[in-house]
Parts: sequence; structure tokens; C-alpha cells
Amino acid sequence: MIREIVVYPDKRLKLISKEVESFDGALHDLLDDMYDTMRAKNGVGLAAIQVGVDLRALIINIPLEEADGEHDQPKENTLEMINPVILEKDGTEKFQEGCLSVPGVYEDVERAKHVKVEYFDRHGTKHVIEDDDFLAIAMQHEIDHLEGKVFIEKLSYIKRKKFEKEWKKRLKEL
Ligand code: CO
Repeated sequence: MIREIVVYPDKRLKLISKEVESFDGALHDLLDDMYDTMRAKNGVGLAAIQVGVDLRALIINIPLEEADGEHDQPKENTLEMINPVILEKDGTEKFQEGCLSVPGVYEDVERAKHVKVEYFDRHGTKHVIEDDDFLAIAMQHEIDHLEGKVFIEKLSYIKRKKFEKEWKKRLKEL
């Protein structure tokens, strides 16, 4: 089921999400709905707070390029991370990011190049994943949401001012 996306500057995006304690049917429904919502909006990642649920759960699904040039995001390729914790991070990388809560805005953001993250899957099994590519960026972006942070907060003062001015205009048009 597609849920409504919480759009910046909704105050819920500032909430620090709570640890998931039960890996139950309600969590599975949430994760399934997050996948449907992310796909419907052509996103590559989504944190639970972006559908208004302040739980430490996020999904990432980096599209596969098909032979015909189409991009697909099969459900079985979805990385579901519950209660993720960054164990290690190093290096720096600038990458152009976007966010379903700030639709249509793409800006360069600097983050760690390599991260090692511990997390639980939907059944409560612990895993550790490491990456130094796009997935590393996506994990940092989504984990930020669990801390109440949106990527545009990482912009320089001048860029942020410009964004806020343009975003106000955009919201009026929506
Ligand atoms: Co986002």
C-alpha cells in the first residue's frame, strides 16, 4: 500500500526515531508499504519517518540497469535495515543527492566514502554490511533521517538560503 510522503519542512522530519523492539507483522507491513511508496515515487531509499512513522527502519533499493536501458527495483533486492548503527566510516566523497521528502531538489553533499553498518533484518537477525560506493552514500542519507536530519541541512549557508527561498515558492505552487 502506498503511503503519503512527509514533505519538508514538516516537523516530523526532525524527530529522532525510536528503536524497533518487535519484529512483527506491523513492522513487515510498514516495510512492504515503504517499498510500494518508494517505487511509486521513483526513489532509491526511504526512512520510516518519511511515511510518518518514527521507528528506526529504512529501505534502500538501488535500481538495476536492464539490457533494454530500463531500471528495475525488484523487491527481493531491497535492503531493509532496522536499528542500523554505523560502526566505521572513513574517507570523503561528494555525491549529488535527492530525497523524496524534498522532491525535485538535487544537491551535492559530502559524506564518508566508506562505511561499515550493523543492522537487523525484518526477522531480527543481525547483519553487518560494508560499502564504499553509492550504497554507502544512500545508507548515510537514510540513517540521517532516523536522527531527524535531511540532506539539505548539509549544504553551505549560502546554498541553504537559496534553497529555502526557492522551496517556499515551490510549496505555494504545490
Ligand atoms: Co531522504
